[in-house]
Amino acid sequence: MALLPLLLLLLLRLVASAPASSPATALFVLGDSTASCAATTLPLNVSFTSSGPCLFPSGRRLLPDLLAAKMGLPPPPLVSTLNGTAVEAAKGVNFAEAEEGARGMIFRMGAVGQQLRLATETLQQLRLEAATPQDADSAAAGAVFVLSFGTDAYARLLARGPEADASAPKHGRRGFGRLLADRVARTVAELYEAGARRTVVMGVAPLGCAPRVMWEGLHLVDGRSCVDEANELVQGYNARLAAQLEALRPRLPGADIVFCDIYKAMMEMITHPARYGFDEARKACCGLGPFGGTIGCFTKEMVCPTPQRHVWWDLYSATEAASSLVANWSWSAHSSVCQPINLETLTGHTSFSY
Ligand SMILES: *[C@@H]1O[C@H](CO)[C@@H](O)[C@H](O)[C@H]1NC(C)=O
Ligand SMILES: *[C@@H]1O[C@H](CO)[C@@H](O)[C@H](O)[C@H]1NC(C)=O
Ligand SMILES: *[C@@H]1O[C@H](CO)[C@@H](O)[C@H](O)[C@H]1NC(C)=O
Repeated sequence: MALLPLLLLLLLRLVASAPASSPATALFVLGDSTASCAATTLPLNVSFTSSGPCLFPSGRRLLPDLLAAKMGLPPPPLVSTLNGTAVEAAKGVNFAEAEEGARGMIFRMGAVGQQLRLATETLQQLRLEAATPQDADSAAAGAVFVLSFGTDAYARLLARGPEADASAPKHGRRGFGRLLADRVARTVAELYEAGARRTVVMGVAPLGCAPRVMWEGLHLVDGRSCVDEANELVQGYNARLAAQLEALRPRLPGADIVFCDIYKAMMEMITHPARYGFDEARKACCGLGPFGGTIGCFTKEMVCPTPQRHVWWDLYSATEAASSLVANWSWSAHSSVCQPINLETLTGHTSFSY
């Protein structure tokens, strides 16, 4: 019976030698309205509500909050609600809030810079206030950063149609994607410099199938297809971003940099809605006009009776049901939405690979 202890010992050694990272202890979020409703700067024609930046309804959970739940963490609080002490920031912070004066612009690179600065300062503060240097290191190593930019920028770019080329004269629509992808990749590198070791970068959804773009491109679609030109534009951005991260990885030793292909995940639902319990993959649950894409959601009364059967919540954003599937697929080893590793592995919530 000496065999059993031996086997156990062997197993323990195997586990110990695996590069399993310790479970993540905090989730920090940077991004646009896909990361927090407080970051919404889209022209929804609801300026009359004037009820602050979180337009109705914010009851729908967004992807970062769903991921926080999977990590066993509370939804990261908005940075503006914190009192500036490390204790409040210890489990994570959501830095995605609208920058003053950002409204109406296609994209302000400054918004990324501003959030990056706040994130870097927070990380620094956590290190400074740690009891021991080891605690400081584990605080940085235990932090997961999620970056979710691009959707609002593309929403604005697409809303202006050919006019957008005139508003971005130096770059054009495609050049704009390159610029944005480069900025996001640079942010990943800058977070690394500040001590971040686990970073997740979200791509942009197939906005060519989003209610707003479908409505704008009514003359181009038959109600079942999507606006290909818009999807191609977004795919160009996603591909550029993925390539930039790929190029970055060898330069950031000891870090896990994950790209999650939100486009692929959403497209799977849009192509096979019934497979995932949806019966509406084009029309917004909450909105007016064709596809619910003319006017966005601004009252409870506008909400459809069965949100869980819609892929799209409003003009450009997914329902909680769709986001929950994206979260599950990002988490799971059985899907390839996130590369090169799934988020369960990244966050250290699994010690065995299978
Ligand atoms: C907002 O409403 C005005 C007038 O109702 C309309 O002309 C304009 O196109 C709308 N803008 C958007 C972004 O829906
Ligand atoms: C900040 O908030 C934390 C947790 O809510 C609380 O314990 C702490 O006393 C607050 N500090 C200040 C200076 O307000
Ligand atoms: C996601 O996974 C959780 C936990 O495994 C499950 O309860 C939930 O129903 C899943 N969500 C969807 C939309 O399938």
